[in-house]
Amino acid sequence: MNKPRRILVTSALPYANGPIHLGHLVEYIQTDIWVRFQKMRGHECWYVCADDAHGTPIMLRAEQEGLTPEQLIARVWAEHRADFAGFSIGFDNYHTTHSPENRTISALIYTRLRDAGHTAVRSIRQAYDPVKGMFLPDRFIKGTCPRCKTPDQYGDSCESCGATYAPTDLIEPVSALTGVTPELRESEHVFFRLGNFEQVLRGWLERNDLQAGVVNKLQEWFEAGLQDWDISRDAPYFGFEIPGFKDKYFYVWLDAPIGYFASFRHLCDRNGLDFDAFVGADSTAEMYHFIGKDIMYFHTLFWPAMLHGAGFRLPTNVFVHGFLTVEGQKMSKSRGTFVTARTYLDHLNPEYLRYYFAAKLGPAIDDIDLNLEDFQLRVNSDIVGKVVNIASRCAGFITKQFNGQLAATDDEPALLARTREPAESIAQSYEARDYSRAMREIMALADGINQYVDRRKPWVLAKDPAATAELQRVCSTGLRAFRLLMIYLKPVLPTLVGAAEAFLRSAPLRWASLDEAWGADGIEPYAPLITRIDPLKVQAMIDDTKAAAAAAAPAAAAPAATTPAAPAAAPTHITIDDFSRIDLRIARVANAQPVEGADKLVQLELDLGDSRRNVFAGIKSAYEPAALIGRLVVVVANLAPRKMRFGVSEGMVLAASGDGPGIFLLDADTGAAPGMRVK
Ligand code: 2FM
Ligand code: ZN
Repeated sequence: MNKPRRILVTSALPYANGPIHLGHLVEYIQTDIWVRFQKMRGHECWYVCADDAHGTPIMLRAEQEGLTPEQLIARVWAEHRADFAGFSIGFDNYHTTHSPENRTISALIYTRLRDAGHTAVRSIRQAYDPVKGMFLPDRFIKGTCPRCKTPDQYGDSCESCGATYAPTDLIEPVSALTGVTPELRESEHVFFRLGNFEQVLRGWLERNDLQAGVVNKLQEWFEAGLQDWDISRDAPYFGFEIPGFKDKYFYVWLDAPIGYFASFRHLCDRNGLDFDAFVGADSTAEMYHFIGKDIMYFHTLFWPAMLHGAGFRLPTNVFVHGFLTVEGQKMSKSRGTFVTARTYLDHLNPEYLRYYFAAKLGPAIDDIDLNLEDFQLRVNSDIVGKVVNIASRCAGFITKQFNGQLAATDDEPALLARTREPAESIAQSYEARDYSRAMREIMALADGINQYVDRRKPWVLAKDPAATAELQRVCSTGLRAFRLLMIYLKPVLPTLVGAAEAFLRSAPLRWASLDEAWGADGIEPYAPLITRIDPLKVQAMIDDTKAAAAAAAPAAAAPAATTPAAPAAAPTHITIDDFSRIDLRIARVANAQPVEGADKLVQLELDLGDSRRNVFAGIKSAYEPAALIGRLVVVVANLAPRKMRFGVSEGMVLAASGDGPGIFLLDADTGAAPGMRVK
């Protein structure tokens, strides 16, 4: 066993004005698996989190609901905690950023930065809503995009063309709160001088084993130059007043990451832990932050810089994951895929999702997709069909014929040795957050154990009175192998494994249990540890989500709290790997016809050489369907099939359009033939 480590782990703090949804859960499940694994390995590992309770959206949301911000955040805190508990997210402490600990540490960090010359005060001009009597965050200003001229875009970025800009660049800006034209007003702001920390941050980058995607992004940001960061907001604001100022508050993003420390402080105070040993400048403990790719700027620049400037340790690493898509698309309320944690829990076992996410999560920043069909197949086949099946195939004989007692010797010790052998490799996969690899390794072992049972056929031995001792040995070996799988899977499936521990009459399994003898106490009668996913329940979950969206009031004036777009924080690029996954093929249009009720669509039957596809393409404005028959097109051949109102579309035709009305497809006779790869 490795030397015990001391580890502090965090997940990003969810905003206190909205429910936890499946997108959030990717991160909490990813972190929780890692923490459970570290604890099983015997390390001292503390997992803290909190609600992110400050800022304008929360203040306005409370006002809309006729509550004080304190009442709103108290309610949401309780909801969040219940949701996390439902998914077995094992925080050691779940706090709030609106806490005395956070007020104290935020003031401490700020005053240290100020006293060391890392802050500056200057006046800036900003949009002000004279009716509401407040300065407007970018997200609360709407207008026409200066680049593509799409109306009704937010003040920081355009959802249509992706441009980012200042709210002052918007054409005909209006306040999203009152509809009036904002005025430009001047006020004093406090800035954090991020540029003072370039060397420190470059050093941190070199010393640490950051993900490649993080390193690239940091290098881009260094090249662009590190700008001062505005850390103050004028009243009215829900947050902490800045020491030495009246009616000026810390910007929510200043005290949010400090909330990690505040939550840990709260835990230390209750448990007698040494706070400084984990966070002090010369701490030898490890500290990791799990975050989504949209908040990298805050965690890899501002936060380490603030920590260093205020005399604290830097993070050991920041682990960044991608977003969740559902059925290959952004989660959507109207499609019923914006599923909240609560709605999921109303219908399905949380361990299904924990396993599915584990099976999909790797160490890179890639997005992961929840495909509901694949979700059911995967969980049913791996967990129910392979893993749990082993116990159900072996346990009955032991209970009925041997009164729950196992054989002292094994039928095939080599099976146990083979199942024990990859333990270090599985551990390394967990350590490296390569859970999909760990799950593949574990499922390969489950296959091996099932093959053993198939080969030894206990149901045949059971009929042979001369084979009684052999039957007991075979089933005992199967159950011992099953127990090893339970150890491997415990970080992912804590509830299922908890039930298995009871069935196996076992003390809580740890990684070291791999090398402990087991079986002298026998087993409890077997009861199913988990059942197959009921497709009707999946559908009911989607239906409920759609119904809730339909029942919700029309979009409220105030947008939901969202992470402000930090400079180029939300990557809009795809990587070369993403690109290489796109299967571009030449196809011939075998048939084309108009789609009734859809002015822009043409229904195409495409001949890809080895297969035919049905594709709906929005190119009717440029082509009469009949004129397309026989032409060659480039098609994305591995796009997930998409159910549309008119039928299923099984690919996408690439076309180009210019300023004019035309849309151009490939011309015939390029020497290309159906089925050819384009890349
Ligand atoms: O993006 C968000 O949802 C933020 N509430 C995350 C804050 S993480 C940390 F810095 F507090
Ligand atoms: Zn635009």
